[in-house]
Amino acid sequence: MVSIIKLDTVDSTNRFAKQYNEKKHLLTIVADTQTGGRGRVGREFYSYNGGLYMSVIIDPSEINVPFHIVTPAAALAVRNTLVEYGVIQAKIKWVNDIYLDGKKICGILTEAKSEDNKIDRIVVGIGINLFSENTRFPEELQVKAGYVKIDANKESVAQKIAEKLGDYLKKTKEKIAEEYGRELLYLGQRVTLTDYSENTQIAAKVLGINEDCFLKIEFDDKTVKYLSSGEIV
Ligand code: BTN
Repeated sequence: MVSIIKLDTVDSTNRFAKQYNEKKHLLTIVADTQTGGRGRVGREFYSYNGGLYMSVIIDPSEINVPFHIVTPAAALAVRNTLVEYGVIQAKIKWVNDIYLDGKKICGILTEAKSEDNKIDRIVVGIGINLFSENTRFPEELQVKAGYVKIDANKESVAQKIAEKLGDYLKKTKEKIAEEYGRELLYLGQRVTLTDYSENTQIAAKVLGINEDCFLKIEFDDKTVKYLSSGEIV
C-alpha cells in the first residue's frame, strides 16, 4: 500500500528517501520544491515551486524484476498516469524521460542504497514539470523543457504513480518491455546518442528494445547493437 510523506521543501526527495529511517515498500516522499534536485550523470534537476518532485522507496524483496527494469517500469507508471489525466500524447524517451510535444516534461532517477554489498532499498525519483503561471525555465532549458497541465492535486498524482509502479514491479520484465517498447519515441528514426559504456556520441537508427529494455540500434553500415545505458541527445 502506498503511503505519502508531504514536504514543502527539501534538498532532494531522493536523498531524503535514501536516508529515511524506514524502508517501507512504496512509501512516497513528495515535495513542492527542491533546493538540490539531482538528475542523471550528476546533473542538476531544476526544481521550481509548482512542479511535482517525488521519490518512491522500493523494497527489493517485494519486486519481481531486476534493478535495471525499475526505471522503465517507472516511466510506464508516469506515462499511464498522465494518460489518465488526459495527457494522451505523452511518450517515453529511452530510457528515463517522458516527452510531450517534443519537450521533456519528466525525468526519472533511480538509485540504490546498498548494505553489505546487497541492495537494501531502491529509490525511484520522479520530477514532473507541472504547469505553473509564474514559472519560466532558465534560458538554457527553454528549448528542451516543457510543462504539463493536470487538473489534480500533487498527492493524488503521486499516489497513482506509486501504485502503478508497485503493480508494474510485480509483472515480468518481458511484459514491461513489451509495453515500454510500444510507447517509445523515435522508433524507426535516425538519432544521435551518447553511449555511456564507451563515452562516445554515435548516430544510429532506433529499431526498438529487447526484453531487458536495452535500446536496439542500427548503424549506417547495418550493424546492430544493444545499448544498456546511454541517452538520445
Ligand atoms: C533526469 O532527468 O536526469 C532525472 C531527473 C530526476 C529528478 C527527480 S525530482 C525528484 C527526485 N529527487 C531528485 O533529486 N531527483 C529526482
